[in-house]
Amino acid sequence: MLGAATLQAQTLLINNIHERAGLDLNGTWQYIVDPYETGFYDYRFKERSETDPEAFWTSGIPQNKTDRMEHGYSDQYVLEVPGDWNHQKPEFTYYEGTLWYKKSFDFHVKPAHNYYLYFGAVNYRADVYLNGKKLGMHVGGFTPFNFEVPAVYIKPKDNLLVVKVDNKRGADEVPTLNTDWWNYGGITREVKLVEVPQTFIRDFSLHLKKSKAGEAPEKKPWVSGWVKLGGHAKREKVTVSISALKIQKELVVTGDSAAFNFQLPKVQLWSPENPKLYAVTVKTNTDEVHDKIGFRTVEAFGKQVLLNGKPIFMRGISIHGEIPGDIRRAYSQADAALLLGQAHELGCNMVRLAHYPHDESMTRMADSLGLLVWSEIPVYWTINFGSKAVLAKAKQQLHEMIDRDHNRASIIIWSVGNETPVSEVRTKFMHSLINEARSLDDTRMISAALEVNYAALKDTNVVDDPLGQYVDLVAFNEYLGWYGGLPDQCRKTNWKTLYDKPLFISETGGGALGGFHADSLTRYSEEYQEWYFKEQVAMFHRMPDNFIGLSPWVLNDFRSPKRNNPTYQEGWNRKGLISNLGQKKKAFYVLQHYYQEKAAAKPAHKK
Ligand code: GCU
Repeated sequence: MLGAATLQAQTLLINNIHERAGLDLNGTWQYIVDPYETGFYDYRFKERSETDPEAFWTSGIPQNKTDRMEHGYSDQYVLEVPGDWNHQKPEFTYYEGTLWYKKSFDFHVKPAHNYYLYFGAVNYRADVYLNGKKLGMHVGGFTPFNFEVPAVYIKPKDNLLVVKVDNKRGADEVPTLNTDWWNYGGITREVKLVEVPQTFIRDFSLHLKKSKAGEAPEKKPWVSGWVKLGGHAKREKVTVSISALKIQKELVVTGDSAAFNFQLPKVQLWSPENPKLYAVTVKTNTDEVHDKIGFRTVEAFGKQVLLNGKPIFMRGISIHGEIPGDIRRAYSQADAALLLGQAHELGCNMVRLAHYPHDESMTRMADSLGLLVWSEIPVYWTINFGSKAVLAKAKQQLHEMIDRDHNRASIIIWSVGNETPVSEVRTKFMHSLINEARSLDDTRMISAALEVNYAALKDTNVVDDPLGQYVDLVAFNEYLGWYGGLPDQCRKTNWKTLYDKPLFISETGGGALGGFHADSLTRYSEEYQEWYFKEQVAMFHRMPDNFIGLSPWVLNDFRSPKRNNPTYQEGWNRKGLISNLGQKKKAFYVLQHYYQEKAAAKPAHKK
């Protein structure tokens, strides 16, 4: 296992990476595929020492003709970054293991500047080396991390950046061994060498102060926020300005952070109907960062969810971070535009980004398009709830998810997990995650996708998962008519919950092979899926009065190694409302029609 010192190398997350100075390291990287981890362990399976020339964090270039080199990097073996390796090489379609990425770059460091290596995400474990020196190690496949790079490590020419990526699943990991999605491996999001002044603005937060429970924000609302400095912060004058509102506030940061509050003049509140974003600038003597922020309040109030004090109904859809047409992980603005564009076409005002934090381009685009977001960490199914180490891994991912996206107005729900089986040790684990999320952010709702036992086909299903007492939004997955009975089972079924809280259906759906048509009783036909949604929609009209929305499963067909019906699935989960070829299935229009109805009906305040 790595020395404690090396592990500490992961520094606090630097935000607003895109506009920071530095070097974009995306593009073509050379690689060595290393299923036996020969580059990391010697033939006695002992970890190689840092100076071991056979370690794959070295170039493998022979110094003398007598040198016996058994590894090396060449342009024969290259992969694009960002991008999963599975869709780039047929031989990697199913590959789970270690692969070494190498990138050479030239860079001239500036005096009085600090350097950080930033990764948008690497699935799953990343060991990072620069010029043979270990910078650090990170586990977790869907959240950003950065390591400090001492300027002395960086050479003007031919820097050797090597990342060992291992996407092997593990019982004590998050997610664990069993998931219903493809375990895409690699450096799946952007890489950047970030250059900042010796004292720099690491992150800042700005959000509307909560108004009195159940009430709309005042005409001239108060905002609160903080600025966090990185590097050698001692005493810094900081200016926070919102030019469109003629706001310029000065504060002094002693140490590395300071909080602030101030009143805004009349503002346009952010909402799906009016996704107004304000350009915010935070400045010090040496540094300056910008962000686009929407001002809104959101809360669970009694049986309703109030956005800016008004009740909302969430017309949602669940989305995987995958582009089915290319069978690959989504990572770009174009990918976000495609997926969120499809959700908009369906009539959505909300998206559930399942089951892990998606690329930042998704949440930023949701801000500008006006889509409410449910963001989730992959505490999925049978995590090892009894393990403290696993809880720590889940909490780290929670921190990284919230650290990256805390300024996104679109995000209204942090979810700490999905379909985790009820047990005391599990509820304790999840409760601890919920408390952690609240301590990090008390401006959003906390939830989790609870599981209900619908296979019992009872007349009244009660959402009574003990976790319901700790969440703000009681959300559950139901597949009545797919995993439980036939779709007309819905006619005989009612739902209720023990908890006097807003109720949300976080998943419901059935499979259909796009273009396969038959009578509605035939599984996997578009007619069966259409019937499924017709019965579900009829049932939605009979839901209890705290029913405030849904995010059916799922926008697009997606890859899953668990789906092996040779006729209808072939490695695809076919519950998409849109097929992997981009065809809208009949059920798409059933839900679209229901959403048109709901969009027309404005929910009223409930006393
Ligand atoms: C589960 C799970 C999803 C899965 C879906 C399905 O509820 O949360 O990840 O893909 O059901 O069975 O299709």
